[in-house]
Amino acid sequence: MDKNILRSLSYGVYAISTLDGDRPVGCIANSTMQVTYDTVVVSMNHDNFTHECMEKTKKFAISILGEDIEMNTIAFLGFQSGREKDKFEHIETLTIDNMPVIKNSVGYLICEVIDKLDTETHTLFLGKILDGAVLDDTKTPMTYAYYHKVKKGNSPKNAPTYIG
Ligand SMILES: Cc1cc2nc3c(=O)[nH]c(=O)nc-3n(C[C@H](O)[C@H](O)[C@H](O)COP(=O)(O)O)c2cc1C
Repeated sequence: MDKNILRSLSYGVYAISTLDGDRPVGCIANSTMQVTYDTVVVSMNHDNFTHECMEKTKKFAISILGEDIEMNTIAFLGFQSGREKDKFEHIETLTIDNMPVIKNSVGYLICEVIDKLDTETHTLFLGKILDGAVLDDTKTPMTYAYYHKVKKGNSPKNAPTYIG
């Protein structure tokens, strides 16, 4: 199989956040999509701390990142683990429905985990959308292609799209 064809699938870039007790935790996930009018799915690697916390809280927020997102925010959230670091120390958040949301984002969805499907490496979390809002309609939501081509970003091995 030509694995390069997988690079032709389109995505956005999102911050998935939840809580570890009272502490905000989360990571970056491109593999987020709307499934029905009020459900979304997120593919989360088993090794991500966010996975463990989503299983416990059964709730998560999706912050839709814009093209203007600071690469530092992606670095904090997408290239280190909340197990060792307090990632949100330097990222401004809003608390919506008890969930941390990235302030500098296009908007957010607040979801309740209503089902899961396991693969060898990732769990698909099915979330029912409880709430959502646009925070800044002047921002353009960032596509995964823009992240790679314009922002010159990379994806770590826990991203489902990683090609070793
Ligand atoms: C652009 C980008 C896209 C990513 N997409 C996903 C994804 O869809 N699913 C996933 O499990 N990890 C994805 N990751 C990797 C996680 O963000 C990364 O493993 C993170 O360090 C996990 O942090 P945690 O241990 O605090 O949860 C992505 C990372 C980046 C930078």
